[in-house]
Amino acid sequence: MQVLKLGGSALTDKTAYMKADERNILSLAGMLGRVWKGGVHDLILIHGAGSFGHPLVVKYKLQNGVKTPEQMLGAAITHSACSRLSEMVVSGLNSYGIPAVSLPPSLLGHMENKRLTRFNRKPVDDLLSLGYLPVLYGDMVPDTKLGCAACSGDQLVSWFGKDAERVVLGTNVDGVLAEGKLVPEINKKNFPSISKHFSDKETKHADVTGGMEGKIRELLGIGKPCYIANALRPERIEALLMGKSAPSTLVK
Ligand SMILES: Nc1ncnc2c1ncn2[C@@H]1O[C@H](COP(=O)(O)OP(=O)(O)OP(=O)(O)O)[C@@H](O)[C@H]1O
Ligand SMILES: [Mg+2]
Repeated sequence: MQVLKLGGSALTDKTAYMKADERNILSLAGMLGRVWKGGVHDLILIHGAGSFGHPLVVKYKLQNGVKTPEQMLGAAITHSACSRLSEMVVSGLNSYGIPAVSLPPSLLGHMENKRLTRFNRKPVDDLLSLGYLPVLYGDMVPDTKLGCAACSGDQLVSWFGKDAERVVLGTNVDGVLAEGKLVPEINKKNFPSISKHFSDKETKHADVTGGMEGKIRELLGIGKPCYIANALRPERIEALLMGKSAPSTLVK
């Protein structure tokens, strides 16, 4: 089984508010249509929330949980926006012949202090064994300590990646960059020295789940080869899913 994550930075305009990048969504769906026709069906797709998630979490002040009625309404609105993005992704996949079905993590996952503690994966496994493509996404998830909290697509990747032979993450950059150059590999040993090259904290459009650095932290715990590649170049994602090489950062 492979896990593919398509980042919110490739599916949406993260500098805007709830703006999908329909062209990229369709070109990625077209690429996955070819991969699917080529026989790769043992796949779970996870996608990020991009501008349908992060700015709403900031707007409704959901970074540290959900307590007040205003925050509850904000969490419901954020879930609804993330689901809307997922419907767009799934419609694109369907139009290229993939029987993709979106499953809301808000109904399947449970967190404690922003970390997943349980996930009802039966619907995911049922869909997989019936030949469908299950699609999960960054979403608001019930949290025993915080009421409800944002669960990033990256955290779902870390949950499902442990059972995968390979994890591929598409985003809007070629991989992890250090002084403009692509870092070929990150492991626990070189991570501290690479850390100084992460610049998410300074960006105006905050990624509420830690940006690139948060992503690497999730991936280092998986114990499976994880490739970060540019999803604005769908042929690179295609090559990696077919077990071929492509410009990317390997995290292992
Ligand atoms: N050293 C770095 N190398 C590469 N990208 C970096 C680095 N430091 C910060 N970034 C930022 O990390 C971003 C990718 O992470 P981000 O979490 O925003 O994307 P995503 O996973 O595609 O989106 P989402 O979280 O919505 O799914 C890039 O757009 C880039 O601006
Ligand atoms: Mg992110």
